[in-house]
Amino acid sequence: NPPNLQMAEGSVLERSNCRAKGGAPGFKVAILGAAGGIGQPLAMLMKMNPLVSVLHLYDVVNAPGVTADISHMDTGAVVRGFLGQSQLEAALTGMDLVIIPAGIPRKPGMTRDDLFKINAGIVRTLCEGIAKCCPNAIVNLISNPVNSTVPIAAEVFKKAGTYDPKKLLGVTSLDVVRANTFVAEVLGLDPREVDVPVVGGHAGVTILPLLSQVKPPCSFTQEETEYLTKRIQDGGTEVVEAKKGAGSATLSMAYAAVKFADACLKGLRGDAGVVACAFVASQVTELPFFASKVRLGRTGAEEVYQLGPLNEYERIGLEKAKQELAESIQKGVSFIRN
Ligand code: NAD
Ligand code: LMR
Repeated sequence: NPPNLQMAEGSVLERSNCRAKGGAPGFKVAILGAAGGIGQPLAMLMKMNPLVSVLHLYDVVNAPGVTADISHMDTGAVVRGFLGQSQLEAALTGMDLVIIPAGIPRKPGMTRDDLFKINAGIVRTLCEGIAKCCPNAIVNLISNPVNSTVPIAAEVFKKAGTYDPKKLLGVTSLDVVRANTFVAEVLGLDPREVDVPVVGGHAGVTILPLLSQVKPPCSFTQEETEYLTKRIQDGGTEVVEAKKGAGSATLSMAYAAVKFADACLKGLRGDAGVVACAFVASQVTELPFFASKVRLGRTGAEEVYQLGPLNEYERIGLEKAKQELAESIQKGVSFIRN
């Protein structure tokens, strides 16, 4: 018998029982802001992830082009594109994981907080969509200022009655990726062998690398400690300045986001011992949110780890980080409450 063929959306010819209808086993992932500097390489890398069966690419511009391009990759995930607010709900319905790199990036001379005015509203709208269409999804929030956008998302979900603190994760994996790279450089090691916990938040002094806890165990001189701490804290600014107004980190961020998303998906799958740093609801300090190591499981961040022993330099850094973090968190909370 001739195969049962029909024209799918657009002009794609496919059999009515084809895989694209229901998707192969795996997770359904949406990227919001998929046509951006981070969104595009992130979409490409997620299309290569064997844990992903369906990949939804949403943006307010250029989503069809990026979708057409990515959809030609001969990997398993079925790719669908969604353009503009009217398609947000369709983009989100049924998703297991939503990754959000939507929003404007820094230019030289700006702080991440300077992005608040525009990005706060974008994050609010997108999170309202998540609360309505996929309230059980894990959310990986990349949009800056992360120290404020995560509290914004939490308040939106609380208002909607869908808030599950385990499922809302601010992405700080780029800080860890940078820390591993810079520490490996100083030690003369392969960065893949190095693991540096980075705690606190994701801006300036709130980024607190715990160099006393580096694996493999090692020690640093005071000069090395100060150099590494500053370089890790200023890593984002280093890229913003090098790009001279053309944006901030996109490629290393897409890499770091995929590393983190993959850890979330492995946790969802039920893998044991999946641990990564993220900015989450936390009781590790007196602040309501804090970045530290978390264990990722079937329901999200199932365990938030304590900071462990800190040296004097890190204790001073922690106090500075908490001061700035408290203000950024409050700013996010007030944006929704007032
Ligand atoms: P970009 O300008 O290249 O891309 C942003 C994309 O978001 C654009 O395609 C834009 O159309 C889209 N967008 C804007 N409003 C939207 C909306 N309402 N809904 C959906 N999409 C929308 O910027 P980028 O370089 O990709 O950076 C994106 C964000 O990520 C920035 O806020 C940046 O500061 C942040 N960032 C965070 C980290 C981190 O470590 N967490 C690292 C790098 C960048
Ligand atoms: C980064 O750390 O690279 C991002 O937060 C982008 C920025 O503005 O620095």
